[in-house]
Amino acid sequence: MKNIVSIIALCFMLMLACTGHAQNKESKTFNNMEKKEKVLVVFFSHAGENYSVGNIKIGNTKRAADAICELTGADQFEIVADKNYDMPYMDLVNLATEEAKNNEFPSYKGKIDNIANYDTIFIGGPVWWGTYPRVMFSFFRDYDLNGKTLIPFTTHEGSGLASTVSDVKRTYPNSEVLSGFSIYGHECQKVDIKDRVAKLLKKF
Ligand SMILES: Cc1cc2nc3c(=O)[nH]c(=O)nc-3n(C[C@H](O)[C@H](O)[C@H](O)COP(=O)(O)O)c2cc1C
Repeated sequence: MKNIVSIIALCFMLMLACTGHAQNKESKTFNNMEKKEKVLVVFFSHAGENYSVGNIKIGNTKRAADAICELTGADQFEIVADKNYDMPYMDLVNLATEEAKNNEFPSYKGKIDNIANYDTIFIGGPVWWGTYPRVMFSFFRDYDLNGKTLIPFTTHEGSGLASTVSDVKRTYPNSEVLSGFSIYGHECQKVDIKDRVAKLLKKF
């Protein structure tokens, strides 16, 4: 009987140790990380006419990305497509449908010279038909982010993270992809977006 109690106690302690380890692993990657680790926020965002927010000067995802940078001191790289997406909402919906259907890789401006310097990368974009816009997949094709800690995030109007997390995992199988977070696009236009993002970042 004594032995059984000891075995149960041991199992319980092992279970606690494992749980503790998993939690440490998750929190170490962001909130408790050492200062020398460099963080980057890569994102795409579309200003102009959009669903639920009218004609906006700063895109929803850009507002979320800016808040992350302000809160964490991260650098940012905005994926700016060569193509002009500034058009009425329904035209953009049709264009995005075509891009997705044809598996397009639209080109974009600029590049990151020092991607190797970054250990943790937030990857943000609007949800366009269930995942990131195609131009973000052009970025994914150009940069190998295996070996890094990746934090997907989206802004959306109902789909949440949609398939972005699994798409990032599939693209970078040797990275550590955290659970990510999503924010309603129209909430990003509100003044308290920074507080909102600060709360969301607490879980990492
Ligand atoms: C072409 C297009 C497709 C969209 N598809 C979805 C979708 O599948 N699910 C969803 O929740 N929202 C969808 N939306 C809404 C956007 O995800 C949402 O407005 C987002 O916050 C826009 O971010 P941005 O201003 O950074 O571009 C779509 C918007 C556009 C323009």
